[in-house]
Amino acid sequence: MTRRVLLLSGPNLDRLGTRSPEIYGTATLAQHVERAHARAAAHGLEVRHLQSNFEGDLIEAVRDATDCIAVVINAGALTHTSWALADALATFDGVVIEVHLSNPAAREPYRHVSTLAGVADGSIAGFGELSYDLALEAVARLVTAEYDRPGA
Ligand code: DQA
Repeated sequence: MTRRVLLLSGPNLDRLGTRSPEIYGTATLAQHVERAHARAAAHGLEVRHLQSNFEGDLIEAVRDATDCIAVVINAGALTHTSWALADALATFDGVVIEVHLSNPAAREPYRHVSTLAGVADGSIAGFGELSYDLALEAVARLVTAEYDRPGA
């Protein structure tokens, strides 16, 4: 059976490549997704990706992800505001990884709050395009080995 990972990209991430390259780098979202596909494939995993600028689309994608073993989510600024997305992720039966290209903790104070961190198994932030590699690597290791995952 194919093990799928749902990769979610929130608002404005479709502008990566030209959006604040000094913060987010010059890689496009398509390039990040391509890396995620490659990293997942190396572990026999398949990635399904959705980008949306609408909170409800992301919530519904989480609710529909019953065929996925993990959700990797860069929710963009919804990270700092969306309790509804956090509620949806809390009901997901699998690994949840929060990912960011930049390090929100080192940026403006409003980015220091994450509504998602508390419902994620873990968060990866600040490593640029390496953040996606590390997130997929974490998923692969968590689902293929017996790790003592807090709260699991
Ligand atoms: C981001 C960080 C968020 O604060 C911001 O709103 C984004 C991108 C990141 O990947 O670093 O849109 O999630």
